[in-house]
Amino acid sequence: MDISNIDYSERIPNNVDLRSDRRLQRALERWQPNYLDWWRSMGPEGFQEDHVYLRTAISVDAKGWAHFDFVKMPDYRWGIFLTPSENDRKIAFGDHLGRDAWDQVPGEYRNLLRRIIVTQADTEPASVEQQRLLGQTAPSLYDLRNLFQVNVEEGRHLWAMVYLLHRYFGREGREEAEELLERQAGNPDKPRILNVFNEPIEDWLSFFCFAMFTDRDGKFQLGALAESGFSPLARTTRFMLTEEAHHLFVGQTGVERVIRRTAEMMNGDDDANVRPLGGIPLDLIQRYINRWFSLSLDLFGSEVSSNAATFFAQSLKGRFDETRRHEDHRALDEGLIIPVVRGGKLVNEEIPLRKAMNESLRDSYIADCEKALVRWNRELKKAKLTYRFTLPNRRFHRHQGEYADHYFSPEGDLMDEMDWRAREDEWLATSDDRAYVASLMECVIEPGRFANWIAPPKRGINNQAIDHAYVKFSGYDRR
Ligand SMILES: [Fe+2]
Ligand SMILES: [Fe+2]
Repeated sequence: MDISNIDYSERIPNNVDLRSDRRLQRALERWQPNYLDWWRSMGPEGFQEDHVYLRTAISVDAKGWAHFDFVKMPDYRWGIFLTPSENDRKIAFGDHLGRDAWDQVPGEYRNLLRRIIVTQADTEPASVEQQRLLGQTAPSLYDLRNLFQVNVEEGRHLWAMVYLLHRYFGREGREEAEELLERQAGNPDKPRILNVFNEPIEDWLSFFCFAMFTDRDGKFQLGALAESGFSPLARTTRFMLTEEAHHLFVGQTGVERVIRRTAEMMNGDDDANVRPLGGIPLDLIQRYINRWFSLSLDLFGSEVSSNAATFFAQSLKGRFDETRRHEDHRALDEGLIIPVVRGGKLVNEEIPLRKAMNESLRDSYIADCEKALVRWNRELKKAKLTYRFTLPNRRFHRHQGEYADHYFSPEGDLMDEMDWRAREDEWLATSDDRAYVASLMECVIEPGRFANWIAPPKRGINNQAIDHAYVKFSGYDRR
């Protein structure tokens, strides 16, 4: 069988020859209706009978894997797609460097690997839950379609992880798969595992910031897992990354279009007030950036982490682009200098590199975010404005790791709590900010029209026109 092609004649589309493992196939077919129930109750509210211009993977080849068509969301063919296995794959880092990669779970790493997979898996349905009401205030059909594309793909990422749990982790894996449908974003009794995935996403600026900053954490976590010595995990996450790229595009260009629209309203005047015109002020956008960037930084975990060291040592989770790095892939002799708070002062401490793997991944992430900032600031420059966006320092507003119990300014300076609280509203989106943004949200469903607070995109999806009818309403399922 050609591994790059996906078999759509099966109830669960796949390229893993599911048919040859009847037990596994039956177990997943039993999970499938539970998944669909979850989608109907916790997925996008409304729009389930509408036809959405969605892409579906038809092959996992580098080229031409995507196929676009109008699909009702519940009919989206969620399936199991892995990039083809490499012959003679070798482990690229850690203590097992150079040995044959594993096609089965090494017994001694079973619990750790399961934990890594469950933590990643939990984020996928969580974001769909967080975003479930956004369709009702979509600024255009183009944006509505992008939201739903992201949502169905996050659903598919859940499938990808659930396949690994069912296939490789026996009864415990099946139980974890059930629990993935039971926890709920923001539910006080059964919350999602990671904090930012319990934060509500109530407006579209939050959605764009989430897709820009929080989904980008996903890119780096998946990139690190794509290096794993456990090949099925590496192959699954590689294919997820190709889908993830579109989510990041939606986030980055979404914020960019808000900036472009605001800049247009400001008409070259740095002091212009865009509120009377219904625009989103630049300093308010900056406060959203500060909030979502800092919340997302927490997802990388502690700066100094023995768990991270273990994951690396056991060749389970590498650095971003590990294979392509020209560095010591054992990471045994080097260290990373990390500023830490000791006796009320910031001092540099050298941390053994393996223990600093979270920080290494955070470095890669921040560098990637900076690129988007450059593009956003280009919009301001083009509009002859002097305002510039910045990323706050990585120590600002953290709830995990070395900086969690201290207060830092956006420039990274240590402050006392009182001074920090006095300025908090300058730095982080306030409830007034959020109420103002919420007041601008309106549902625009006329093809080619956009809400007043956002500029149209530069081009449509899949070479379609910007005024393409990206969602066709069924007529009775309107909000
Ligand atoms: Fe995802
Ligand atoms: Fe995503």
